[in-house]
Amino acid sequence: MSVESFLKTDILQLFETADRMQKLVQTRGGDDSLKHKVLATLFYEPSSRTFASFVSAMQRLGGTSIPMQDMTHSSVAKGESLPDTAQVFSSYADVLVIRHPDTGSARELAQHAPVPVINAGDGLGEHPTQAFLDAYTMKKELGRLDNIHIVFVGEFAHYRPVNSLVKLLALFPRIRMSFVSAPEVALQAETRVFLRSKGIVFNEDSKLEDVLQEADVVYITRPKREFVPADVYERIKGLYPINPEAIQNMQRHSVIMHPLPRLAELSVEVDSDPRALYLSKQLKNGLYIRMALLKLMLGRK
Ligand code: NCD
Repeated sequence: MSVESFLKTDILQLFETADRMQKLVQTRGGDDSLKHKVLATLFYEPSSRTFASFVSAMQRLGGTSIPMQDMTHSSVAKGESLPDTAQVFSSYADVLVIRHPDTGSARELAQHAPVPVINAGDGLGEHPTQAFLDAYTMKKELGRLDNIHIVFVGEFAHYRPVNSLVKLLALFPRIRMSFVSAPEVALQAETRVFLRSKGIVFNEDSKLEDVLQEADVVYITRPKREFVPADVYERIKGLYPINPEAIQNMQRHSVIMHPLPRLAELSVEVDSDPRALYLSKQLKNGLYIRMALLKLMLGRK
């Protein structure tokens, strides 16, 4: 449901398993360790990567999926409730993955489902598996998760991957975070309270060009047209463009990440920069992490 229920040891176990999944995919494409297991993906919101990587993860481990990519075409269109949907799909699947526009919906489904539930994004709440794959990517590229400076750019108020990633990184020592955004889409109050409660060093008033020079990671997000008034969107959409000029003073060892989909905030001219991971490693790691998660949840002990 939330990254908050994970200990550092859980995360490291997940990462070790993901390393094994990468080797497995690269050498044999997959195995049959989850044969006869069934995953149901209940998506009430659009998704490309999260949906496809969960389905692919299950198939590469020999399992199958009930790919409900548009729940508005299910009995939900006739008015079926989340508790009933939980019972229905739990009768056919061993694990449920839900994406839903309402914060707390994943928890509600889980309360009524006799099988495990994975939160693949609930409203303005969390998106834990995105945080897992993001942190996994950072660890592989930088060689560590402690003592890093991560610069978040763009939109945080309506951006659940940031809520989850912040909580995950807070498990590691000497993390520094900078948040650069328009005030209208600054960090959620709850996330700010969380950071303070953990004693994390963070700032919200730095100039982008100053912090980019010091960053180990720049984590770019999409201004969300769905959530802000049209005039605000027009004003903020190009406020912090990440283009070749913006990244020219970034350190050589640093990495550039984006959970995608990206719009104009991240120029396609950055794609060929060796530090850009969003169209390559970040995507692949999403598959390995979700394979690892399914294996740890459903595999033989
Ligand atoms: C994000 C989401 O749905 O929270 N997408 C994703 O899973 N990578 C971000 C977004 O919607 O822009």
